[in-house]
Amino acid sequence: MTALKDTVAELAPMMQGTVPYDAFIVSEGASVIAGHAGETMLSLFPEGSLEGVTYARPEIWSDWQDFAALAEELKTYADALAVAAPNGLEPALPPPRDMAGMDHSAMAMTPAPQVDEGFTIAELMGYGERTQEVQVARGTSDPATLAFDLTTLAADDLFTRISATCSSCHSQYRAGRN
Ligand code: HEC
Repeated sequence: MTALKDTVAELAPMMQGTVPYDAFIVSEGASVIAGHAGETMLSLFPEGSLEGVTYARPEIWSDWQDFAALAEELKTYADALAVAAPNGLEPALPPPRDMAGMDHSAMAMTPAPQVDEGFTIAELMGYGERTQEVQVARGTSDPATLAFDLTTLAADDLFTRISATCSSCHSQYRAGRN
């Protein structure tokens, strides 16, 4: 889990555009996340391992399928990001142009600029403000189709989904606030 946090912390500024985007680093980082997700993550939570100091909640084992789905979802998004890293960031909106000669219907459709400051560590760990809003679509589509479509997404979009999955799992299955 600590490796996950380090990787997310390394990639976050790149996703927010505060340091130059490097597809190679993003892809490597995504592979690290994928390597800690899915089955590998589940193997860290054997039944009856609630001993000693742990923030793991007993619901992990009563809702095992849901917990396992989140671990798998993290892997799906991270695998997709490893492939989609060269897609780069969502293109910035074009700067406003002179109104003359502009098609008004196109203007009306221009979405408002998105302000996405990324997830804070608190949100990532499941106790930040955004946690309540985070909704991760689960089991809505066939995983193969989902994985295929995901690789066409912008890297920062996938990174947001990864962060949302960390946050979502922690808010449900991790107690404590560090
Ligand atoms: C399937 C659920 C799940 C997902 C997905 C998940 N985690 Fe966790 N994470 C946990 C649980 C449960 C704990 C508490 C473990 C304990 O205390 O024994 C935890 C603990 C942690 C910790 C505390 C340090 C530690 O080793 O206990 C960090 C840091 C962390 N996770 C980072 C992340 C990051 C970053 C992501 C996303 C890239 C992520 N986790 C995805 C379930 C998850």
